[in-house]
Amino acid sequence: MQQETVIVLDFGGQYNQLIARRVRECNVYCEIYSYRTDLAKIKAKNPKGIIFTGGPNSAYLPDSPTIDPEIYTWGVPILGICYGSQLMMHMLGGHVTKAPEREYGKTLVDLDTSSPLFDGLPAQNVCWMSHNDYIETAAPGFQIVAHTPNCPVAAAQASDRGLYCVQFHPEVMHTENGTQILHNFVYKVCGCAGTWKMDSFVEHSVQALREKIGDGKVLCALSGGVDSSVCAAMLAKAIGKQLTCVFVDHGLLRKHEREQVCEVFGEGGQFDINFVCVDARDRFYTKLAGETAPERKRKIIGEEFIRVFEDEAKKIGAVDFLAQGTIYPDVVESGLGGESATIKSHHNVGGLPDYVDFKEIVEPLRDLFKDEVRQAGRELGLPEYLVARQPFPGPGLAIRIIGDVTPEKVAIVQDADAIWREEVDKLPMEQRPSQYFAALTNMRSVGVMGDERTYDYAIALRAVTTTDFMTAEVTLLPTETITTAANRIVNEVKNINRVLFDYTTKPPATIEFE
Ligand code: XMP
Repeated sequence: MQQETVIVLDFGGQYNQLIARRVRECNVYCEIYSYRTDLAKIKAKNPKGIIFTGGPNSAYLPDSPTIDPEIYTWGVPILGICYGSQLMMHMLGGHVTKAPEREYGKTLVDLDTSSPLFDGLPAQNVCWMSHNDYIETAAPGFQIVAHTPNCPVAAAQASDRGLYCVQFHPEVMHTENGTQILHNFVYKVCGCAGTWKMDSFVEHSVQALREKIGDGKVLCALSGGVDSSVCAAMLAKAIGKQLTCVFVDHGLLRKHEREQVCEVFGEGGQFDINFVCVDARDRFYTKLAGETAPERKRKIIGEEFIRVFEDEAKKIGAVDFLAQGTIYPDVVESGLGGESATIKSHHNVGGLPDYVDFKEIVEPLRDLFKDEVRQAGRELGLPEYLVARQPFPGPGLAIRIIGDVTPEKVAIVQDADAIWREEVDKLPMEQRPSQYFAALTNMRSVGVMGDERTYDYAIALRAVTTTDFMTAEVTLLPTETITTAANRIVNEVKNINRVLFDYTTKPPATIEFE
C-alpha cells in the first residue's frame, strides 16, 4: 500500500521544514519539494494534500515563483501559507498588493470557526504574521474565514474545490493552536488516516537507501555523536556489510566514549557491518605537543583528522558513496535548504572531502530535526547514552584544556567531566542544562590536603541553557549538585585541588573554553 503523503511545495520560506515537521507530528508522512519540481513527479506521489509555503517574493511580480495552474484541477486539497496563500489568490483571480501597513508579529485574528481549518478553535486566536503584501480581495468562489483590522483576508477557502489559504503561519510556535490548524487540514480536509510514525520513517528511509545504494559500497565517518551514530545505524540496517564505518580515537574523547561506540558498532555489537576503530591517540598528542594557541590546536586536529581518515580510506579503496549525518538545521544554516536565503555556512555541508574516492554522498537524516534524529535512533535500537548525547565539539577535549595538551591533562579532564556529568544527570530531565562539561584551566594554585601543601590545577565546571547555541544562559543548578561534584572531583581526581564554576553567559564568553 502506498504511504499516505502530504507534500510541502517550497516557495522559499524560512519555516518550510517546520511545516513538514508539524505534519509528521500529526502522524502523516510529509516531504518537501521545490516549486520548480516537475508537476508529474508530484502527482505520481499521489499526495493526500499539498501545502504551499511562505516566501520572500511578491506574488504579482512577473519573475516571482509560481506554479502550473493545472495543480488546482487535481482535486487534491491545497493549503497556501503566507506567500503560498497570496500566490493562490493571485493566480485564481483575487487581488494581492502591497499592504498599507506591514503586519509583523503576534496578531489577534478573528476566525470563522465553521471552517474545517478552524474547527475547535476559539473565535479569536493569536497568530504569527509576517508579510508586506496582503490579499485585498479574495479570488472568486472563495469565502473569507478570517480577518484582522489590517488584513481583510487572513484566511479564505473554496471548500468545494479543497482550496484553503491562511496569511499567517500556523507552523510556528507563536501561533496559538497552530498545530491544530494543520491537524484539521490533514484530517478534516485531506482525510488522512494518520498511520505514519517515526518507525515508518525509518522503514521508508531504509528502503530508499537500499534502492539508491544497490550493491554499492558506503563509507561513513563515525564520530560517536548523535547524528553520525543514527546515520550509521540506519545504513547498517539498510545495507549491512556493504557499509564500513571508520571511528577515529584522537585521544580527545570523553571518558569511555571509545568503548561505548565500539560496543555498539564494533565486532559482536548490534550491527553486522565493517567497523574500523583507529587508535590515533599518539599521532594527535605528538602533533599537539607544546602547542598553546587555540586556533592552531583546532587546525592541527582538523588536519590530522583528515590524514588519519585518508590513510584508512586508502586501505578501504574506492567506494560508491560517502555517508554524512547532515541534519536539517545544518542544511538551513548553510542556506542549502531548498529555496531559502543563506544564513551561515556549516562544516557538514558543502565542503566535501576530496581525500576520499567516492561517487556520491548519502545523507539519510537531511530532513530531520535533532529530536527527530534522536527518535529515529531509538527506533533503530541505539542505546539511550548514544541518542541522548549532548553536543561535543570535533576537536574534543583539546578545546577544554586551556594551553598545551598532554595525555595526563586529558585524563584529568576526562575524570572530572565524568563526575560532573554523573552528578548533573541525577537531576530530572527538565532541570538539566543544554550542555555541561568540565574544562581544565591552565592555572595552578595552592591548596592543602591532609597536612600537606598542594600546588595543583583548577577545574572549571560549565553548565549552559540554550536553544540555538549562538547565545547561552548560565543554568542555575541546585547548590548541592555543584558542591557534591566539587567535593568528588577534588577527592577522586588526581592533581586537582580547586573547582570553579563558570558564571558567564554567551556572549561575552563562548560555551567552550577555546
Ligand atoms: P562556542 O564555544 O562557539 O560553541 O560557544 C557553540 C557550540 O558549538 C560547539 N562547538 C563545536 N562543534 N566543532 C564542532 O563540531 C567545533 O570545532 C566546535 N566548537 C564549538 C560547542 O560544543 C557548542 O555546542
